[in-house]
Amino acid sequence: MMRLCVIPGDGIGQEVVPSAVRVLEKLLPGLEVTEAEAGWECFRRQGTSVPETTLQQMRECGAGLFGAVSSPSWQVEGYRSAILALRQSLQLNVNLRPVRSWPRISPRSDVDLLILRENSEGLYIGREYMQQSGNLAIAEAHISRQASEDIARRAVEVAVLRTSRRVTLVHKANVLPLTCGLFRDSCRRVLEEAGLRDIVDERLVDVAALQLIECPEEFDLLVTTNLFGDILSDLASHWSGGLGMAPSLNWGQGIALAEPVHGSAPDIAGTGKANPLAAILSSALLLRYHWHAGALADQLEGAVERLLAEISIAEMGGETTQRIEQELLLRL
Ligand code: NAI
Ligand code: MG
Repeated sequence: MMRLCVIPGDGIGQEVVPSAVRVLEKLLPGLEVTEAEAGWECFRRQGTSVPETTLQQMRECGAGLFGAVSSPSWQVEGYRSAILALRQSLQLNVNLRPVRSWPRISPRSDVDLLILRENSEGLYIGREYMQQSGNLAIAEAHISRQASEDIARRAVEVAVLRTSRRVTLVHKANVLPLTCGLFRDSCRRVLEEAGLRDIVDERLVDVAALQLIECPEEFDLLVTTNLFGDILSDLASHWSGGLGMAPSLNWGQGIALAEPVHGSAPDIAGTGKANPLAAILSSALLLRYHWHAGALADQLEGAVERLLAEISIAEMGGETTQRIEQELLLRL
């Protein structure tokens, strides 16, 4: 029995997640769905952005679909970003972000790459402090051999599934030889030991950013640290047609949380205009990488492809969320 913990969160998360769940239920009629709370509204009601019950539900199900949460851009006593707390508590140590061309909505037709981002350390461990003078702020970055090898093992798994022609390690070891050097060397060793020596390649992050614009079709699988992965994956998502088309998977051992890359979009929340495809394509990642149901993932992505070829989202007018869901269900 497959189980899914659904965490809609705030804003358009409440709109796109139910849509994605209905689509997933058509593909997996026996799916058992439970709903859990997280986010800013949850914090205001319960004083925590991720209640312990939500973590328990996630652990019991082993798979989740997260919408988006709103985060204040000022410091709020006791508030922690819900998605960061979920990633950390559930040890979702790798973030998988595919970027591919879709009919009409993408600015190019030949992009098909996947970014694997380390999800637990780097500059995002949250160790920031201000010196007493108030004139010097310091942030620590941690890179461990363990986490670097873990992401490299995931890279091997993905490279085999995709029959990758190239795996690119992205770093900045010329300026940060200890941290980025450890990342690069640990990853390289695991990939080479897995027999992928011939396709492993590396790029400094600044050059990688330029080439992701100049010649995105030349990349296949990119493996990088937390901050670089965050930035490069948003940048690369341009080629899929923007945030409404950008899915991701937070990937741990035996547990995974799918999540559209976009946020709660307060500017369109409640209007029905949110594109649910980022959330729907995130659930396809659960199918492919967590549930090992590649054929169902192909079926879902194939239906999205036909839908986009036949109907332009720009022409859908008002009720985009509902319309896309209906049109997709017809094509599944
Ligand atoms: P955002 O991703 O919510 O929105 C950026 C722009 O893209 C907006 O104009 C929005 O209308 C549009 N957009 C986003 N998703 C869309 C969709 N599915 N269909 C159509 N248009 C879409 O980012 P923003 O505005 O910077 O942040 C809003 C809130 O979301 C903030 O509170 C922020 O902290 C939070 N956020 C949460 C994330 C998460 O839960 N993982 C990620 C990014 C932001
Ligand atoms: Mg981001």
